[in-house]
Amino acid sequence: MEIKPITITGCGPGALEYVTPMAMRAILQAEVLVGARRLLESFPEVEAQRIVVGADVPQALDAMAEHFGHRRIVVLVTGDPGLCSLARPVIQRFGRDACRVIPGISSVHAAFACIGTDWFGARILSAHDHAPEIAPASLISENKIAVLAGNPANAAWVQALCAALFATHDFYLCENLTLADESVRRIDCLPMTLASRTILLCIKKETPL
Ligand SMILES: C[S@@+](CC[C@H](N)C(=O)[O-])C[C@H]1O[C@@H](n2cnc3c(N)ncnc32)[C@H](O)[C@@H]1O
Repeated sequence: MEIKPITITGCGPGALEYVTPMAMRAILQAEVLVGARRLLESFPEVEAQRIVVGADVPQALDAMAEHFGHRRIVVLVTGDPGLCSLARPVIQRFGRDACRVIPGISSVHAAFACIGTDWFGARILSAHDHAPEIAPASLISENKIAVLAGNPANAAWVQALCAALFATHDFYLCENLTLADESVRRIDCLPMTLASRTILLCIKKETPL
């Protein structure tokens, strides 16, 4: 019997317009749809069985294993699978050969697009799962930095980054990108609270666009 691969697909930063036709085709053909509740709710028309991924990722992987090989499993991730997503634990568990990855538009792509700056050479750091293990002051020579900053538990590190780069960089706070409440603004200091969907861009002053 043919083994059905697991499809891992990026779903873009939020708005359905940013879900690619390739991703949509895979999602519509799913027999088992896996992902965070918020993402699963974005596709109410899909009649697949659903596996909600919460804090206990291994539990979700165990649930996927029951269907692996004989049902079309489609894993939904926000943005692009290659950036801090469920793709890594899924591939580690089921193997690279068993997985097909469909790229998506990342929140980092969307953030740079909003400020009209290319992201070639940008340093991308995640303060999502935990604070980056790097001293903020050591980043002062970077021209462009994007920080995944949607987790309030790690806001102190993001604050420290802004303080360390205050004299050398401009800061852009990009919240809820592509959604109705999108907000992109230049800031001098970080607000007390950040949206759960936040990218902070730090652009060295006088960096050419
Ligand atoms: C688990 S990571 C997922 C990143 C995703 N794979 C990507 O490529 O955008 C979650 C982080 O993505 C960022 N994020 C996701 N959607 C966003 C949006 N619509 N606007 C701003 N940031 C977003 C936030 O920094 C959040 O902390």
